[in-house]
Amino acid sequence: MPQTTSIYKKSIGILGGGQLARMLVLKARQMGLHTIVLSEKISDPAARVSNRWVKGKISSVKDIKKLLKLSDVVTFESEFIPAELLQKSTKGKRTKIYPNLVCLGRLQDRLHQKELLFDNDLPTLGHVKVNSKEEIELAYQAFNHRMVFKKRMGGYDGYGTFVIRNQSELNSFKTHFKGQESQFIIEPLIQFKSEKSLIFARSATGQIVSLPMIQSVQTNNQCDYVIGPVKHPAEAKLRRQITELLNKINYVGVIAFELFDMGQELVINEIAPRVHNTGHFSQDALNADQFELHLRCILGLKLPEIETLHKAFVMVNLLGQSTRNPLIKKFPTGELHWYEKTENRSRRKMGHINYVGRNKKDLLKRALTERKGILL
Ligand SMILES: Nc1ncnc2c1ncn2[C@@H]1O[C@H](COP(=O)(O)OP(=O)(O)O)[C@@H](O)[C@H]1O
Ligand SMILES: [Mg+2]
Repeated sequence: MPQTTSIYKKSIGILGGGQLARMLVLKARQMGLHTIVLSEKISDPAARVSNRWVKGKISSVKDIKKLLKLSDVVTFESEFIPAELLQKSTKGKRTKIYPNLVCLGRLQDRLHQKELLFDNDLPTLGHVKVNSKEEIELAYQAFNHRMVFKKRMGGYDGYGTFVIRNQSELNSFKTHFKGQESQFIIEPLIQFKSEKSLIFARSATGQIVSLPMIQSVQTNNQCDYVIGPVKHPAEAKLRRQITELLNKINYVGVIAFELFDMGQELVINEIAPRVHNTGHFSQDALNADQFELHLRCILGLKLPEIETLHKAFVMVNLLGQSTRNPLIKKFPTGELHWYEKTENRSRRKMGHINYVGRNKKDLLKRALTERKGILL
């Protein structure tokens, strides 16, 4: 590990080269910080903009060790690198990994995450753990033939989420995942009013700040756009409960809570221990964005008080539609954040656009109109 004195001489290692890593790198560079990205291809979105790039796999102990050796502090853009693998890689090394590996281990598995929420009295949907075809059948009866299978590890953007509404959907799930039952949890399929999210940042010093609550709209179980700020009667209590939890588990970094708005109640759908798609609005709507907050957290810097600079904001994702080379056909009036991905594919996140102004409805109308036909 390099011997350094100033924050500005510290090297921040990032595991992964996707868009979240890229936006961390871009912010770090703006702040005068030094970044090193570990990823497979030099054309990866974050590798293109980082001060230094290490070629390798985030699933390889050898490659992770290489990154650790070069870095003073390491963070990640995906919660799905097994915590045990990182533990193995850090043996005997002084480099810190944030969020810490105990938190990561508990949050990366949907079953352990649920248990953490239950143990701490945070509101979430009930769930069952299943090990056999018979137990699945029992759950199907208990949840009134409407339920959702969720992959314990590695699910994102709806990949890993399987909705069951009738016997034929159940049969096809059982055929497809025969013998893999224990890799899933089951939740009841519910009807919510809307989906919301709350994003918090906790510094290594223990200071906590949070972003305004937003509403997110998913298409095919994947975030399509975000509107904010929004309010909810259960928000203040939930914010207090989340703050307590983060202090208790000594969480360091940005963390996102995806919520179901049930009317009077807010329940936590899932937790992502990282910067999050529903927090991208912060780049243009707040005085400090989630990427800066995450960097400040892992370096133990003071967090600024969060100010919302506009009465209304909207973020729309640009999702791949074809396999043609991704290119922008026309420029929007909103702030375009482009990830420079070299390959396009259906539903792949290629970029996003932030709109700020005074009226949510007007912004959303403009955003959805401009988004049409923007990608080649
Ligand atoms: N129990 C549920 N009832 C109804 N819809 C659900 C349920 N769980 C998830 N969904 C829908 O599927 C989406 C993706 O599920 P989520 O658990 O967030 O997994 P992922 O990790 O893929 O984001 C959610 O945003 C929501 O729209
Ligand atoms: Mg989700």
